[in-house]
Amino acid sequence: MLSWQRAHGRHALPWSGSRDPYRIWLSEVMLQQTQVATVKAYYARFLERFASVQDLAAAPLDEVLALWAGLGYYSRARNLHACAQAVAALGGFPRRAAELEQLPGIGRSTARAIAAFCFDERLSILDGNVKRVLARLLAFEQDLARAPAQRELWALADALVPAQASDMPAYTQGLMDLGATLCTPRQPRCGECPVQALCQAQAQGRQAELPLKSRR
Ligand code: ADE
Repeated sequence: MLSWQRAHGRHALPWSGSRDPYRIWLSEVMLQQTQVATVKAYYARFLERFASVQDLAAAPLDEVLALWAGLGYYSRARNLHACAQAVAALGGFPRRAAELEQLPGIGRSTARAIAAFCFDERLSILDGNVKRVLARLLAFEQDLARAPAQRELWALADALVPAQASDMPAYTQGLMDLGATLCTPRQPRCGECPVQALCQAQAQGRQAELPLKSRR
């Protein structure tokens, strides 16, 4: 997957290759509920207006909300501002996912994305796309609406993180890119997938059934 990511992953995104936690955090929060195509212009405008997390922290909330207008889920903008103020007070972003996760608007997967992209922490992300990738790869049968199933998939995701010395940013972006470009909800392109030979769903012809849809 690492060599696939380098050759076929997405590299032209505005945050690609950045190791700056301010830039990565801003992109990840915007991407939580909004598509890449929409995020790009907002991301550029935010960085133009707020060059650093300190600039964002010092701005009036109303200005942040005005720049956010159109992105939706406005609690994200309020949390963004609160988080910037907390980070400014701390003197910078914490480097560990466990600490990042304590900040407003930073959930478990976002915390791990920041820690992996910027600080090489060896923990897995697990957002909606990655849940689908792993549920298929492992033929994971449990209902992901249930907390024990979520806990088990998190543990499996961490167990799959490659050994020391491999590249956490490429691994993390590779998981995201697999889910977004090949391992799609409908008609996944298994023939191009770098892990097809390992994929339990592919072996069993069950890509369309997995992940299990909750009956609730
Ligand atoms: N969605 C969430 N994080 C992303 C990233 N780093 N690149 C592309 N899409 C994403």
